[in-house]
Amino acid sequence: MIETAFAPQDAAALLRWYVDHGLDETIGEEAIDRFALPPPTAVVATPVAAPSTPAAPTPIRAPIAPPVARAPVPLESPQLAEDAREVSRRATTIAELEEAVRAFEGCALKRTAKNTVFADGVAGAPVMIVGEAPGADEDRLGKPFVGVSGQLMDRMFSAIGMSRERDLYITNILFWRPPGNRTPTLSEQAICLAFTRRHIELARPKVVVLAGGTAVKAVLNTTEGITRLRGKWTTLTLDDGSEVPVLPTFHPAYLLRTPASKRQSWADLLSLDKRLKDLGVR
Ligand code: URA
Repeated sequence: MIETAFAPQDAAALLRWYVDHGLDETIGEEAIDRFALPPPTAVVATPVAAPSTPAAPTPIRAPIAPPVARAPVPLESPQLAEDAREVSRRATTIAELEEAVRAFEGCALKRTAKNTVFADGVAGAPVMIVGEAPGADEDRLGKPFVGVSGQLMDRMFSAIGMSRERDLYITNILFWRPPGNRTPTLSEQAICLAFTRRHIELARPKVVVLAGGTAVKAVLNTTEGITRLRGKWTTLTLDDGSEVPVLPTFHPAYLLRTPASKRQSWADLLSLDKRLKDLGVR
């Protein structure tokens, strides 16, 4: 029997703690005890010797380097959202916007994410779905809504004859996974939202579907909850003055937890189908 320092329940609690803090993937077979590593290795300094007195190299211990002083990056600064707006305004195509998002270093989430998750589906499709943030599957694959909640979303849209290969363009208000799937901060939302608003302008969908309360609050700039707003059409006015009809609906992850709410989501889908028919899209 293997003896461990932890009781099984303690080890399980520790694992849960890691997962809650976003450490949900193993990247090596062997654990490294960094406290047991040897001190920094000595370097050999070779002084420039005077020609007449050849001196042997003197080993000296490298001084522990003080932390490199870098200009602090104020990751909660409103200036970052302004930078994002400025950069996104310069993009005149979706491809340019994607390039700008991928190059943007002003969102702290990018530092912990594996991938930038920009969009999936058909750019220019009649329906643009905007969700909240990539989860672990999306982060790994670099595409939005590819995990279990995305699969439910695909099944729901296929029930009204729509697919991401033909009719849907899918993105999120955030392009990077928050560690441990935590709720994004208002600052992170404001920064990414600047790109997302431009994304909608450039994609020019006939309608936008907002999936879940966080996307609804951010895009519609409201404090009203999703339970009150779902199923109610509203109009989003973009920075270029264009307007687009918007339908808030429950997030598919919520439907997985609360299947009884699928009935309301089905009503939302029928409402979407009707709206598209009224617009002559279907
Ligand atoms: N949830 C979201 O809001 N977006 C995704 O891409 C995946 C899960």
